[in-house]
Amino acid sequence: MKKLFIKTYGCQMNVYDSDRMTDVLAPLGYVPTGTADGADMVILNTCHIREKASEKVFSELGRLRMMKDRARDQQGRDVTIAVAGCVAQAEGEEITRRAPWVDIVVGPQTYHRLPELVTKADPAARHRVIDTEFPEEVKFDSLPGEHAPRGPAAFLSVQEGCDKFCAFCVVPYTRGAEFSRPVNGVLAEARRLVAAGTCEITLLGQNVNAYHGEAADGSSWSLARLIRELAEIDGLTRIRYTTSHPLDMEDDLIMAHRDVPQLMPYLHLPVQSGSDHILTEMNRRHTNDVYLRIIDRLREARPDIAFSGDFIVGFPGERDRDFADTLSLIDKVGYASAYSFKYSPRPGTPAAGSDEQVPEEVKAERLEALQQLINAQQFAFNKRTEGQVMDVLIERNGGRDGQMAGRTPYMQAVNVAADEALLGKIVSCQITEAKQNSVVGVIQ
Ligand code: 5AD
Ligand code: SF4
Repeated sequence: MKKLFIKTYGCQMNVYDSDRMTDVLAPLGYVPTGTADGADMVILNTCHIREKASEKVFSELGRLRMMKDRARDQQGRDVTIAVAGCVAQAEGEEITRRAPWVDIVVGPQTYHRLPELVTKADPAARHRVIDTEFPEEVKFDSLPGEHAPRGPAAFLSVQEGCDKFCAFCVVPYTRGAEFSRPVNGVLAEARRLVAAGTCEITLLGQNVNAYHGEAADGSSWSLARLIRELAEIDGLTRIRYTTSHPLDMEDDLIMAHRDVPQLMPYLHLPVQSGSDHILTEMNRRHTNDVYLRIIDRLREARPDIAFSGDFIVGFPGERDRDFADTLSLIDKVGYASAYSFKYSPRPGTPAAGSDEQVPEEVKAERLEALQQLINAQQFAFNKRTEGQVMDVLIERNGGRDGQMAGRTPYMQAVNVAADEALLGKIVSCQITEAKQNSVVGVIQ
C-alpha cells in the first residue's frame, strides 16, 4: 500500500478531477491520506485563474521540496511529487525550471494517463515526465468505471473547456475548447453515484449550460434534456449545475427550472460587471439588460429561485461610473451570495495587455464596497429564511458533539442538532437563526 495525498486548489472541477485521480491510481495500490507528511506521492491539483492562485503553488512546492529531502535523507524513502491542473497546463516548463524536484507535470486533459506517468517517472533517478497534451483520446472514456463512494452530495463533470474567450479568462487556454461528455457516460456515472449513496449531484462544466452531449441515437442533448433524464433516477433528489454563461440560458433550461422539482431553486449565474461598456470590453457578448431579463424569466419560471454570481472589479478601463453600474445591478438582482475578485492580468489573455489597467488601491476600494453590499444581501437573504421550514441534506458531522452540518436547497450551510444516523438523509428543518455565512436549524 502506498499513500497518496492530493491538495486541490480552485474550482469544483478540480475537486472532481482530484477524486478521479484517486480512482485512477487506486489499482496501483495508492490509498488516499489526509496529509502530505508520510505520503509516497503528493499531487498538487492547481488553479491558474488568478495570479494569487498560481503563486500559491510555487510556495507549496518549496515546502514539499524540504519534505522530499527529509524523507530521502532520514528514511531513504522517495516521494513522488506531481503538479496537475491548470498551472501544470499553462506553466509546465516553468514548473520544471523553478522546481526541478517535481517528478510529474500533468494537465487536466491527461490525468487518466497517471499510471503510465508514475511508472515512467523515477524520483530516485530524477527522471521527470511532462504530459500537457490535448490528446485525441477522450479522457472520460479512459477513466475507470469504478469509483469510491462520493458521499451524499457529489460533483459530476459533464462539460469542459470554453469557446467564449472572455477577455480576462485563461480557461480557453488551460482547459481547451468546449467539449460535452456523451449522455450515456454521464447517466451511467450518475446511476453509480446514486447506487453508492449520493442523493445530490452537481453537474459541472466551465460553461455547463452550453452542454450539448451526444445521445445513443446520435442526437444532441441540451443540459435541460439531460437534467430531465437525470430526474428520472430514483433516489436522486437534488440536481444542481454550475457554472453558467447568461447567453446559454436557453428557454428549455429556464423551463426545466419550472418543471423539474429536483432541480434546486438556486443558480450561480455570473455577470462579472453591471456596466455595458465593461461587458463589451470583457467580450461577454451581452448587456446588463439582457442579464436582468434572464433573471426575471427565471423568477417567473421558479418564483422561489435565488441567485449567486461572480464579479470582477478593476477590469482595465473600469471607471467610477462603470463600478456604480455594477453596484446598481447587484441592488436590482438581490443575490443570496456572490464571489468577487480584483481583476488579475493573466498571461496570454487579451485584457492583460491593455494600457488602461486600474491601480491596485482603486481595485481594493471597489472590492471592499462591493463585498459590503454582497454581505448585506447575503445576511438579508439568510434572515428572510428564518422561520421557514426547509429540506436539509445532512452532509457531515458538525463542529460540535451532537451537531451535524447540511445544506438547504439554497446552499446555505445549516448547523443542526442531529444524530449521526441522519448522515446522507434529507430532513425537514425549521430555520431558527440566521448568521452571515450559515443558519441554524431545528429538525421538525
Ligand atoms: N481576474 C479576476 N477574476 C477572474 N475570474 C476569472 N478570470 C479572472 C481574472 N483574470 C473570476 C470570474 C470567474 C471566476 C471563476 O473567476 O469572476 O467567473
Ligand atoms: Fe482554476 Fe479555471 Fe482551472 Fe478551475 S478551470 S482550476 S477555476 S483555472
